[in-house]
Amino acid sequence: MDKTQKYNQLLRDLGFLLGEERDSVARMANAAALIQERMGFFWTGFYRVDGAELVLGPFQGSPACQRIGFGRGVCGTAWKEARTLVVPDVEAFPGHIACSALSRSEIVVPVIRNGAVTAVLDIDSTDLGTFDDTDALWLERLCEIV
Ligand code: SME
Repeated sequence: MDKTQKYNQLLRDLGFLLGEERDSVARMANAAALIQERMGFFWTGFYRVDGAELVLGPFQGSPACQRIGFGRGVCGTAWKEARTLVVPDVEAFPGHIACSALSRSEIVVPVIRNGAVTAVLDIDSTDLGTFDDTDALWLERLCEIV
């Protein structure tokens, strides 16, 4: 199964799994678990907007940084710019925050509600150049339904 087919099934199944659940933490928790189970990334999780910072939300993987400032690191930059950031080599991203020395590439996708960023989805890989436009496209769709 190629990446597009995997994401296609993932989104379909996530829609059924989330159903009409209203609690955003429950939705993010199951989204992170399903992404991790199906795609096998190193770290998958959400950071939620909490005032002037992002705070760690539901995730799968190693323990991670709990708070990230607005405009800081890849997550804080994706929040500030309200757009997806694909980082093929984290060492080449100025200000990257290394929660794990094993992370080599990363994608961060904003969750946008009523025009405002409410959270970001952060996924890390231990390989360089793991993420591309296909990941961005599908993960943006996922962040619309989470
Ligand atoms: N690398 C992220 C921090 C979060 S961890 O990857 C889980 C960043 O630079 O924002």
